[in-house]
Parts: sequence; structure tokens; C-alpha cells
Amino acid sequence: MQAYRAALLRFAADRAPAHSAVYEEDGLLLVGPDARGQQVVQAVGPYAQLAPQFAQVPCEDLRGRLIAPGFIDLHNHYPQTDVIASPAEGLLPWLENYTFPEEERFSNPDYCAQAATFFIAELLRNGVTTSLSFASAHTASVHALFEAARQQQVRLITGLCLMDRHAPDGVRNDTEQSLLDTEALIQQWHGVDRLGYAITPRFAPSCSHAQLRGAGELADRYPQVWIQSHVAENKDEIRWARELFPQSRSYLATYADFGLMRERAIYAHCIHFDDEDRALMKGTGAAAAVSPTSNLFLGSGFFDYAGADRVGMRYGLASDVGGGTSFCPFHTMLAAYVVGREGQTKPGLSLKPQHLWWQHTAGAAAALGLDGRSGHASIGNLQPGCEADFVVLNPKATPLLARRTARANSLDELLFALIVLGDDRLVERTVVSKRTV
Ligand code: GUN
Ligand code: ZN
Repeated sequence: MQAYRAALLRFAADRAPAHSAVYEEDGLLLVGPDARGQQVVQAVGPYAQLAPQFAQVPCEDLRGRLIAPGFIDLHNHYPQTDVIASPAEGLLPWLENYTFPEEERFSNPDYCAQAATFFIAELLRNGVTTSLSFASAHTASVHALFEAARQQQVRLITGLCLMDRHAPDGVRNDTEQSLLDTEALIQQWHGVDRLGYAITPRFAPSCSHAQLRGAGELADRYPQVWIQSHVAENKDEIRWARELFPQSRSYLATYADFGLMRERAIYAHCIHFDDEDRALMKGTGAAAAVSPTSNLFLGSGFFDYAGADRVGMRYGLASDVGGGTSFCPFHTMLAAYVVGREGQTKPGLSLKPQHLWWQHTAGAAAALGLDGRSGHASIGNLQPGCEADFVVLNPKATPLLARRTARANSLDELLFALIVLGDDRLVERTVVSKRTV
């Protein structure tokens, strides 16, 4: 076992609302292997209470630092790492002019390998320990990302991007072959170490009926596997999806009609929804990957937090790199705060810092079905039994952070200062499975 003495942040399972944080100003975190050899939290609480009981365990003194759960990025695209900061009038021209040409390069395994290595390192540098990521439409891109993640013991869920139409040569795949490849990749990678597979139809407009039907059949046959896609991001995209699938009640309902909505299905954006869409999300157990930096950058719109909470649908935060502008969870949480104030059915909403942080940790874990329910692994928190992925934050990382955090009079004030002023300098260390990376 290994103990760490520091300020500690975690989330209570037994408090309402679920996103209430528990804070220990002088805490002790004990990490050790469980029966499967996975490093998990063995005990956590006030230092004064736990120290006598664990006096024999080596303890690292990190007073002055804050230990918090590793961040979970619910949606991003590793082949778009080099697309960040490409301006466009909106989603569809951005895809056509920047994204598809870059993704074409992922037919080359060497190109994939260097991009995957950089991407995983960048996640970890920013304190992200779990990621649900798109690969490209080439199997080499999937293998490369799984291999890079496995090497670093990051929890990584990805899948072959399914797109058999409405994209240029070189980024599309063949309908039949893409489904065979998906099944082979599930069998090779899903559940290996900390890796998981996600069936990945890019979005309804890029997939034929046959490809969506095949994806839905696989989702039914492999219920433990995740599903990821995009929905209701941009008005032009929605118009196009409605033209292509007029028989469905809405763009979102198209996915349900093909058997692609269930627990472990994560839909990026979910901006332009009505209450029937929200009820469909809730009823099927699907969750939204809210991607605020991307939505602001591409001018897509604003996720409606009040609407989501009114109906009770699940959501968590995502970078959506490279539509998103940053790998940094602090930047994403700040953008979510801005979005929470704008364009809402309930104007002037002020999302609480604990709620923002929860969306990027324990809330995202719940969206993935990785919050310890029904015997599955538990991540995104530091309660006993949770996988021991965490960040060590230095609230004095910059002169301004040091001044401002010294003035914080409450947990919310401290967290808000970190969210508003923080960047990768705040993350002194990222620890996955007891390895510092
Ligand atoms: N919709 C379909 N593909 C994409 C993508 O790569 N990024 C975003 N933001 N939206 C999409
Ligand atoms: Zn995306």
C-alpha cells in the first residue's frame, strides 16, 4: 500500500445532489491492489482519524497540494489533435476543409502511432485518466490508440469510425467490411487491461441505413460495449439528417430506430433537443457528452442544462478535440460555466463549481456506467473501491493562482479559482494505477 497526505476532493454517493463534493483539508488517501491486482482506493478520510491505523504504510507528504479524481473526457477525436484551432463558418465546412483531409492520413500505421503516443501523453499532462475517443475510419488508427493507451495504463475507450457515405475517398469505409472489422476489433480489444470498445457511427448523415442497422445489431449482441456518435450539434447538420431519415421523429430518434440508444451510449453535443428527445435519452439510459469549447468555437449553440435537469437525462463534460479548443479540463469546465449562463430556457443559470467538477469526473463516470453500479469498475471518484486514478494539483502553480487561492474562503471559492485561472501548470502529477506519469 501507499499513502498520500494532502488536501482531498471526492464526491459523496449518499448526498443530494449527487454532485456534492467532500473535501478534506488535511486528508489521507490509501492506495493498494484489489483482488484482481488493480490499484484502488483502500481508505480515505481525515489524516488525524486514519493515520494511527495506517502508521506502517509509507506515506508521501503532499501538504499544500490538492489530490482530486483523474478527469474523464467523454468525447474527443485523437485523429484531430492537429486540427485544433482550424477556423470555419460552422461544422460542415470545418469537416470538409480541415477534418476529413487530416483523417485521411490515418490510413498509415506509422502516422497513427506517433499521433496516438502524443495524444495519450497530452491527455495525461492535462490530468485526464479516462477518455472516450473517436479513431478514424481505418483499423490501423484503432490499433494504434489502444496500443498507446495500454502502454500508459490509461482507461481508453475507442472504436472504428463508421462512415460509408457523404465523405471523400480515403476517409470512408465499406459497409460490410466496416462491420466485420468492428466485430473483430471488439473481440481483440474490449476488456483487455483497461481498454474498452465503442461502436462508432460518426453521425447519421455519414452512415447508410445498412451501416446503422449493422451497428445496431452489434450493439445488441455486445451489450457491454459502448456506443458513441454525434447528434443535434448544428442547425445545417440537423436539416440534413432529417432529409436523410425522414421516417424518424427527430434526428436523435434516428439512432433509437436503429437500435443505437441504450446504457453506455454517449452522444456528443445534444444541443438542439426538445423534451421528447430528452425523455428518449433518459428512458434509454443514453448520456450526453457536453462539449462547450467546441460548441463555442464552431458556433454550434448552447447545451441546455436546465432542460436536461428538468427531464433528468445524464450528461458529462468533453473536450471534443479538435472541434474543441483545449485538452485542459479547467478550460472545458470554464466554458461549461459560460454556456450555463447563455441561451438557456432558464436564463442566468450559474452552475456551481462542484457541479462543473463532477461533470468531468464522477458524473462522467456515471454516464459511462463506470460508477460501480452492477459490479462494474468504479472511476471518477476517490471513494474506497474506486480505481486509483488521480491528479495532484498545485494551487500555487502560478503567482496569480497563489494569490487568489490564498483568499478562497470556501470549497466553492477554491474550486472556482482553479477552474477560472487553471491550466496544465496546475497539474503537478497524474497518477494512473499507482504510476506517476
Ligand atoms: N459531427 C460529425 N463528425 C464530427 C466531428 O468530427 N466533430 C464534431 N464536432 N462534430 C461532428
Ligand atoms: Zn466530436
